[in-house]
Amino acid sequence: MSRRVLITGGAGFIGSHTCLVLLEQGHELVVLDNFDNSSPEALRRVQELAGSTQLTLVEGDVRDASAVDKAFGSGGAVDGVIHFAGLKAVGESVGNPLLYWDVNVNGSRVLAAAMERHGCRTLVFSSTSTAYGEPETFPLREDMPTAPVHPYAQTKVAVEQMLAALCRSGPWRVASLRYFNPVGAHPSGQIGEDPMGIPNNLFPFITQVAAGRREQLRIFGQDYPTPDGTGIRDYLHVMDLAEAHGKALEHLLQQPTPYSLTLNIGTGRGLSVLEVVQGFEAATGLTIPYEVVERRPGDVPRLEACPQTAQIVLGWSARRTLEEMCRDGWAWQQANPSGYRGPT
Ligand code: WQD
Repeated sequence: MSRRVLITGGAGFIGSHTCLVLLEQGHELVVLDNFDNSSPEALRRVQELAGSTQLTLVEGDVRDASAVDKAFGSGGAVDGVIHFAGLKAVGESVGNPLLYWDVNVNGSRVLAAAMERHGCRTLVFSSTSTAYGEPETFPLREDMPTAPVHPYAQTKVAVEQMLAALCRSGPWRVASLRYFNPVGAHPSGQIGEDPMGIPNNLFPFITQVAAGRREQLRIFGQDYPTPDGTGIRDYLHVMDLAEAHGKALEHLLQQPTPYSLTLNIGTGRGLSVLEVVQGFEAATGLTIPYEVVERRPGDVPRLEACPQTAQIVLGWSARRTLEEMCRDGWAWQQANPSGYRGPT
């Protein structure tokens, strides 16, 4: 059944891949994006790949009620909302917490108020595995306590709580998806992750080293209590994550109200930094030079999902392998050495 879906932050890394999946499923999209950390070119390519123009763009900020109203008013009634728009850099959130509370929490509040006004109370929210803080028992289940240790994670947990309260107050249906570490790109190499400046995250850093744009990878610490001493994360292919959003929305639309759900979205299989480097080398035939340096402040030794609830409730599990994550991320990097900004 074709739905009309409002997607905030639809031009970003996860948003653009989700737009592609939903367009391919025949849905009609309204994207609200201010292009703060994204490019309209991503949406052009998404439509080209999907062979669909069922996408209306409203350029604006999610904190601006009139922009959100414009998105709701741009066509027929909206069946559900997927809310990606937000900031996600842990270090930046420590330096500028008010910005994070404004964009992530106030932005979600403005969006939820607009949803009330327009009578649309079905929402998929982008949450984070960092909600668990520095856990000691694995794998992580959704009923384990949240203990966010930086403003980025604190704002995501605050929004989860706001949404849970809405579900207690009226006929809302909400799914908070706690993402682990999404990586890779669409296999076409046409859309992918486009970090500004020096990448913070492991995968884009590796692909830039492979491309010769950076000299070597710095591995942040080899003295963690893990088998090879490097940090462990649960990396998943961004296309698997995008598909999880489609399933979550469809699931919500079939539930009676009120309904609230929190789901881990990961593979359940943690990989160390060295395992990722080796996997990338095996998938591409390239060598990634690296040096081991000090731990990065704020990093935790290990994060690993128990993905069972998503499997049981949504019938979703991550299908794509590390090899595919590496191959597709590398194809995107090679085809787009400067991301969406064109050749340098
Ligand atoms: C992974 C591992 C690093 C870079 C994720 C999201 C992030 C944020 C929080 C999302 C760690 C190591 C990394 C490098 C390295 N928001 N590393 N050298 O820290 O799990 O962050 O959660 O919710 O956006 O990505 O991911 O990719 O930065 O690091 O050795 O140059 O790689 O120490 O062990 P992280 P990451």
